[in-house]
Amino acid sequence: MKVAIIGTGYVGLSTGVCLAEIGHHVTCIDINEQKIDKLKKGISPIYEPGLEKLLMKNSSDGRLQFTTSHQEGLKDVEIIIIAVGTPQGEDGRADLTYLEQAAYDISTHLSSDTIIVIKSTVPVGTNEYIKKTIENLNVNGVPFEIVSNPEFLRQGSAILDTMKPDRIIIGSENKTAAKKVRDMYIPLKVSIVLTSIRSAEMIKYASNAFLANKISFINEIANICEAVGADVEDVAKGMGKDKRIGEAFLRPGIGYGGSCFPKDVKALLHTAKLHGKKFKLLNETIAINDIQQELLVKKAIKRFGKLKGKKIAMLGLAFKPETDDMREAPSIKIANLLTKLGVKVVAYDPVAKENAQIILGNTIQFVDSVYEAITDVDAIFIVTEWEEFKQIDLEKILQKMKHPIIFDGRNCIEEEKIWQCKAVEYYPVGRPEI
Ligand code: UGA
Repeated sequence: MKVAIIGTGYVGLSTGVCLAEIGHHVTCIDINEQKIDKLKKGISPIYEPGLEKLLMKNSSDGRLQFTTSHQEGLKDVEIIIIAVGTPQGEDGRADLTYLEQAAYDISTHLSSDTIIVIKSTVPVGTNEYIKKTIENLNVNGVPFEIVSNPEFLRQGSAILDTMKPDRIIIGSENKTAAKKVRDMYIPLKVSIVLTSIRSAEMIKYASNAFLANKISFINEIANICEAVGADVEDVAKGMGKDKRIGEAFLRPGIGYGGSCFPKDVKALLHTAKLHGKKFKLLNETIAINDIQQELLVKKAIKRFGKLKGKKIAMLGLAFKPETDDMREAPSIKIANLLTKLGVKVVAYDPVAKENAQIILGNTIQFVDSVYEAITDVDAIFIVTEWEEFKQIDLEKILQKMKHPIIFDGRNCIEEEKIWQCKAVEYYPVGRPEI
């Protein structure tokens, strides 16, 4: 099939390379010239495992193209996928500016019988609104259909999630359009759920809100485990074996971040409020998450008393491993709290340094290796569970630090390792301290 994708963020780009990989002819459109120039040269503008390889392969095979021109990119395509951002706007509502712009761009270059697929995360009713917007702008009355097709990929495993999703949701009021979109995905051989447009829109928000709930729930359990002397890792394992609960998203830590959960949970709350409903559970999910992001600072205060004048190494800045994304990362709140308390912060992240510098400026010091970060510090905060932190050499830490104290916000160092190195003081989340 001939497919155009508007927006080359995580969703648009991953979808583009994967659809090309399964045999479609894909043109990705973005108004950002620098991004498109890079992509034309086979360089990915984001850090995402496996993406660049597929980008190079499919570009050189001639199935994947990039352009800033809507006229060129939308010419004779069967399916247009909109994958632009819907950032958090006023009152938590989703800001639809980029989507409205995409609707305008499509309407001026629409060719006959195109299917417009909205992949961006949008509040219930948005697909219908965009349909009407295009109809109003579409002066020649060119026929088209709208299909809602929300995305469930995770940053850091975007390619894997796109090639092997648990399910694909196709929401449409038109059977032929739904069938055509389903055919586009057939080579993936995955379970496809056909729904109405409104249900598809809701599935996306309900899924993200549920996962955010799961995280806040396990974090509250972790805090109780600490109080009663239980081990949350064992508790989560035991709970997860129950198929009704499931093992995923029961990793305790310092709260969720990223470009999706915080924004989508608030957008769903906004939708509920708009319809006179109170989603009290979600309010609590947010409140628990906000408090959880302060956990390591509180633990350090409990251990040291005043933190003024101390030097702390922050290992990890990105909101999760395998990404350089700093949006809503717990590290931002932690760094700001520490500096406010008069702590000198030295931070290291394998890939997020540049993005972190944009946000945190020179309020903290950035270095280029773990061992540089931990030299002469009073404590280590593990903020993101990068593989290299799991492999950290505790003997080396002993040499570099006066007195090795680790606050592990992601429980990523194996307990066994800590037991072997008796000189280390270790403070995990929801587990007995060592
Ligand atoms: C999330 C969803 O998982 C995707 O299904 C969805 O498509 C995406 O949002 C989106 O709406 O676009 P993402 O934000 O990339 O994906 O990352 P996750 O792996 O879900 O992690 C989100 C946050 O939750 C991270 O800060 C992570 O550290 C935290 N988390 C995750 C936990 O604290 N505990 C867990 O058990 C799992």
